Amino acid sequence: MTRCRICLGPVREFVDLGRQPRSDAFLPPGEADAHPEAEFFFRLAAGACADCGMAQLTEPVPAEAMFHRDYPYRTSQSARMSEHFARTARRLAAEVRDRPDPFVVEVGCNDGGILPTLARAGVRHLGVDPSGRAAAEAAGRGARVLTAFFGPESAAEVRAAEGPADLVYSANTVSHVPDLASVFAGADLLLARDGRMVFEDPYLGDILARTAFDQIIDEHVYLFTVGAVRQAARRYGFELVDVEPLDVHGGQLRFTVARPGRYRVSSAVKRTLRVEGLGLAALDGFAARVEHVRDELVALLRTLREQGRRVVGYGATAKSATVTNYCGIGPDLLPFVCDSTPAKQGLVTPGTHIPVRPPAAFADPYPDFALLFAWNHAEEIMAKERAFRAAGGRWIRYVPGVRVV
Ligand code: TYD
Ligand code: ZN
Repeated sequence: MTRCRICLGPVREFVDLGRQPRSDAFLPPGEADAHPEAEFFFRLAAGACADCGMAQLTEPVPAEAMFHRDYPYRTSQSARMSEHFARTARRLAAEVRDRPDPFVVEVGCNDGGILPTLARAGVRHLGVDPSGRAAAEAAGRGARVLTAFFGPESAAEVRAAEGPADLVYSANTVSHVPDLASVFAGADLLLARDGRMVFEDPYLGDILARTAFDQIIDEHVYLFTVGAVRQAARRYGFELVDVEPLDVHGGQLRFTVARPGRYRVSSAVKRTLRVEGLGLAALDGFAARVEHVRDELVALLRTLREQGRRVVGYGATAKSATVTNYCGIGPDLLPFVCDSTPAKQGLVTPGTHIPVRPPAAFADPYPDFALLFAWNHAEEIMAKERAFRAAGGRWIRYVPGVRVV
């Protein structure tokens, strides 16, 4: 039995997605055949703690191997996400404006996050990110970045050099850190007395409601709920004072924590907790719904192949590793996936070895169908690729269920 990373309680598994590679372990073509032993696989399964409620992966995934120097993910690949971060930066800057010389830290800033906007607004800021290359790109956008994992050590270092932070912000990072206690310990060391930590991550409620099983990847060690985050925050000396639903990345929540008693707990916390209780009932039957999506998707791809239709993938997302490996979708069903990230192009997908090609390959010529792995950017992508549909192409979606549009 797996023990909870937060409270050591028993974790009850609710879905098993089988043998999976690292979701960001794109590899050179031919490499997997030459050195099959070099590809790392583990069992990807999620469960929820019977005591504190925290949903989490049930197998250990070492972080150092993941968020390394060459970590290929880039936040700035989506125009919508860039807008999201610019808007977030403006709002957070306004919230600390009345403090003397406010200081904002972004944990896991990747190639910029909210920092370039803060930099342009003249707000004192610092990014903390372990990926040297992404951090260098953030620096190129005017941000100050420290290349490090965030935790008590780096937090103490930053505090000594810069003084207390008014705000620690983090997007898609806190849920990636197995040692959640170290994140809160870092925040505790770094934050001013009235400081707050704001973090946004995938929300289990949305994952269940949409059968978005591809949100379950090696990086998402925790699948947050309001109830579990509230308890964890309390355990680590903080109080959950606000939650806000975000319509990015397929449904996220933005959590705000502060030291106990410093801020009024918003009505959104109580309201979301109430609805959440009902939503979590969907844990039952989630695995069966996931299997159903897999069976329908694979059946569709096989039928299209028999009919001689061309199908390609759109977006070599981390999420697509879960989908292709769980469903057994390889180059025989999907000859390539196009992706705008230069660092992924020319490589093959982790585990399933589907070639990744630049976006130009998509229109050369258009396929009959495109399997939309980057479904969290559906609006942006479909708007950009209007000519594909106009030419008779159709999109295959699989969240919340398999359909052709
Ligand atoms: P992302 O949304 O971060 O999902 P994940 O966390 O599952 O990797 O990744 C989106 C991927 O899609 C990224 O590799 C870039 C790619 N992409 C395109 O190829 N074209 C686009 O227009 C957009 C928005 C993204
Ligand atoms: Zn627990």
